[in-house]
Amino acid sequence: MNPRKIPRIIFKESKVPIYSLPDPLINSDNTPVSNEKEWWTKRRPEIMKLFEENVYGKMPGKPSKFGFEIKKLKRNALKGKSTLKEISIQIENNNKEITLNLLIFQPNNGEKPYKTFLGLNFYGNHTIHPSPDITITDQWIPNDKEQGITENKATESTRGMRAERWSVEHVIDRGYAIATVYNGDIDPDFDDGFQNGVHPLFYREGQNKPADDEWGTIGAWAWGLSRILDYFEHDEDIDHHRVIVFGHSRLGKTALWAGATDQRFAIVISNNSGAGGAALFRRKFGETIYYLNKTFPHWFCQNFKKYDEKENELPVDQHMLISLIAPRPVYVASAQEDFWSDPRGEFLSAKHADPVYKLLGTNGLNANEMPDIHHPIYSTIGYHIRSGDHDLTRYDLDRFLDFADKHL
Ligand code: GCU
Repeated sequence: MNPRKIPRIIFKESKVPIYSLPDPLINSDNTPVSNEKEWWTKRRPEIMKLFEENVYGKMPGKPSKFGFEIKKLKRNALKGKSTLKEISIQIENNNKEITLNLLIFQPNNGEKPYKTFLGLNFYGNHTIHPSPDITITDQWIPNDKEQGITENKATESTRGMRAERWSVEHVIDRGYAIATVYNGDIDPDFDDGFQNGVHPLFYREGQNKPADDEWGTIGAWAWGLSRILDYFEHDEDIDHHRVIVFGHSRLGKTALWAGATDQRFAIVISNNSGAGGAALFRRKFGETIYYLNKTFPHWFCQNFKKYDEKENELPVDQHMLISLIAPRPVYVASAQEDFWSDPRGEFLSAKHADPVYKLLGTNGLNANEMPDIHHPIYSTIGYHIRSGDHDLTRYDLDRFLDFADKHL
């Protein structure tokens, strides 16, 4: 018996196969998209359906019951410059319930309502800032030996462990509010056959896992971001017309899908989002569909597994995901040594979304070639590549703030 061969991982540009991308401006009946109206009424819905059925899975609409409660309000947080709010958002459907614990830091100076950065976090709200006022999550969290998380439980010692990535004070100083929910409140990030998290709230009678074309965990996280936006519509401190959804890595993939599926997000930012995020699948550079599905069988819909090692058969590629965000500003950020995420592939998605952005009357991406490191582009499609590895650094965050200043 021949054991199955494990596919080689490409880390050299010279090994990237020749590929041809589906054209976002050619309809499935092979006619060109000739104007904006045709984009909105024909081609965009086609592309959306292809992503739903083949990649992220269809998500349900709004839940039958939705409520929220302000659990904490501290007006003199961060040495008086910020108000800290903790809100629990209750989501109920089919008599089952989940709670999203939302943390908001908003400025105390400046004009309300505030422009707001919204992103999910990986280990609990208390990790984004060391403040003892932030409630520690009692949810399952991933173990992380380095951080001393061994029993899938958050500990006091993990307060602020991701503070560098969030730079809360700095965001407040720039006049923005910043809001977050732990992704595990929506769906814990492990494969349990979709028994925990939000999925069971939407099972039809007799159903016990999502159908092959229904949402996986990334779809659930993106859906959760939309529910937070629903809450923002009731919070008069937050300008729900100026919400920037952002995320790093798997949460960057999530931010892009949230921005594609919910047009209320004003700006969409993905940082080092890689395969299943901004990177083009057809380049097969770094992480591929096979590796995504093997390591994270719960992230995408089951149909996506049909494309393991068959990227050319996928009816879409990720430049079309970015096109779904058009004409709203979108920013893609890469890191030079983040080979697993394929920085060039991230850039090329941005570039190949440009014709759609242009059709819709924006300036698209103001670059033909990949820019040098630390040369950010701030056109409607924005992009930068910085030195260093997979991470969300202060350099990245400062570019996101500059991009938001320019476009909001
Ligand atoms: C892994 C995974 C990536 C993902 C990353 C992250 O490296 O393979 O797809 O983006 O984790 O979320 O940090």
